[in-house]
Parts: sequence; structure tokens; C-alpha cells
Amino acid sequence: MRNFNEFTITDAVVERVGNASDPRIREISEAVVRHLHALVREVRPTQDEWMAAVNFLTRTGQMCNDKRQEFILLSDTLGISMLVDAINHEQSKGATETTVLGPFYVESPPEHELGDNISPGMEGAPLFVSGSVSSTDGAPLVGAVVDVWHSDDDGYYDVQQPDDVEGLTMRARFHADGNGRFHFWTIKPAAYPIPHDGPVGDMLEAQGRHPWRPAHVHFMISAPGHERLVTHVFVAGDQYLDSDAVFGVKDSLIHDFVEHPAGTAPDGTTVDRRYFELTYDFKLNKD
Ligand code: BEZ
Ligand code: FE
Repeated sequence: MRNFNEFTITDAVVERVGNASDPRIREISEAVVRHLHALVREVRPTQDEWMAAVNFLTRTGQMCNDKRQEFILLSDTLGISMLVDAINHEQSKGATETTVLGPFYVESPPEHELGDNISPGMEGAPLFVSGSVSSTDGAPLVGAVVDVWHSDDDGYYDVQQPDDVEGLTMRARFHADGNGRFHFWTIKPAAYPIPHDGPVGDMLEAQGRHPWRPAHVHFMISAPGHERLVTHVFVAGDQYLDSDAVFGVKDSLIHDFVEHPAGTAPDGTTVDRRYFELTYDFKLNKD
């Protein structure tokens, strides 16, 4: 076949990719062709606009390295990460709701004992975090693996600092105790702009959007026989809760970080300045 035009090209390409032997590859390829062709038909780009799109995607790829994943940022800011999350986590049946993983998770974070301070020497208001991990039927998940990570009080993650300025900090792996409980000390995180010095930042600006995320603490929690939970707890009252750049906020994940005057904290620690406390009980779906 030859001599394709605006009205015949889509069917020709769909037919060609239909030769894929893997049925899932065939299904996805056909959908990609149909939807991309429909997009082009709808916006009718000029040749210059088409080259601008190619350059944008090229710059997005070139921005990626072992510390920066610009394609995930693109997915996050276009709401695709949250759409994939929604499709894969049907309404929660009593489990804690999920949200985006984000680009700042580090595999195998530093192991810590319950009660440790995971941000020693960092500036910021002390934050005492405690909580529990249980199955949706209420059974405590003894020994659950609780990974946490968050930004500093300027809104930066450790991995955004130049190599080895702070090392890995404000992140840890804990193992819940015999009652499925955990607690630790850290500093209260701040709201922050997602990395916006690349093509995704240019896109946000062109779309009239800000790059900010409301302050939050990330949790990834695993226990045998249960679905892994990837979520955050957001600081109630944050100014960006209704305009998160990556659409990740859910009401059930917004929680008070309660302010206390200097004194004795719940774990018996004496604190010489005001501190904050977050308590959150996580529930995991069975597999
Ligand atoms: C984060 O919360 O760490 C994050 C999520 C999506 C994009 C950028 C950052
Ligand atoms: Fe984050």
C-alpha cells in the first residue's frame, strides 16, 4: 500500500502494528497509533510546532541521569502517574490511600532503630513521628518494613545536594515492633518546588502553572502477604494542598503536625524548643 493521506494513514499504521505476535504489545501499539494520530488531527501542528515537540522530548531524555528522571516528572505533572496509580489501586476497602512515589526514593535506605533521629545536625523544627501498621482486618503487621523520606526545611532532599554534602539523611528504613508500631525523630519538612530547571519547568511556565508540592513525609510500607503501600502524609494547612504540581493530594492523607512547646516528648525525650508531632496509622490490603 502507498499514497496515504490524512484519511487513510491511521488505518494503514494500525494494520501494520497488528502483526505483533504478543497480543498486549499489539493492543498497546494500536492504541498508541490511534490516540497519537487523533491528537495530531485535533491540534493540526505546523511543521515548526512538530519540531518543537520533538526537541522538547529530546531535551527531556537528555536531562535524565542517575539522579534526575525528567520523564517521570513529565508523567507526574501531566497527571499520568496519578492516573496509573488510580487504575492500579481501586477504592481502598479500608486500606490507606496511595499516591505518587516521586523521584527521590533511594533503594535500600539506611537502616535505623526505632526511636532514632534520622536527621542529626539538620536545621529545622524537631518532628516526632509515630504510628502503626496493620492489615485492613486490624491485625498488627509485626516487623513491617517502613521506609520514610522527606525534604529539609528549605524544601530539598538529600539527593538534590551536591555529591556527599549531607550523605543520605532525612530517610530511613525501620522495622515495626511486636505490636506493628514505629517511632522516630526527624525535622519538619517544608513545601518545595519540583525540579523546574529543565523542559518540565519550561512546560509548567508555558502552561501558567507553579511547580510547588505541599509539605509531606513519604512512606513505603511492606509486609508479607500484603500489597506494598506507597504514600505520603501531607501537612494540614499547607498552602499548596489544592494545587499540588503532581496532583497527589488526597484528603485522607492530610494530617495535623501538632505543635508542642519545649518539654518532654511522648517517648520521654526532653526537647529544649518547640517541636511537632505526627501520628498516623497505616492499613495495608491483603495480597
Ligand atoms: C516527591 O514528592 O518527592 C515528588 C513527586 C513527584 C515529582 C517530584 C517530586
Ligand atoms: Fe516528596
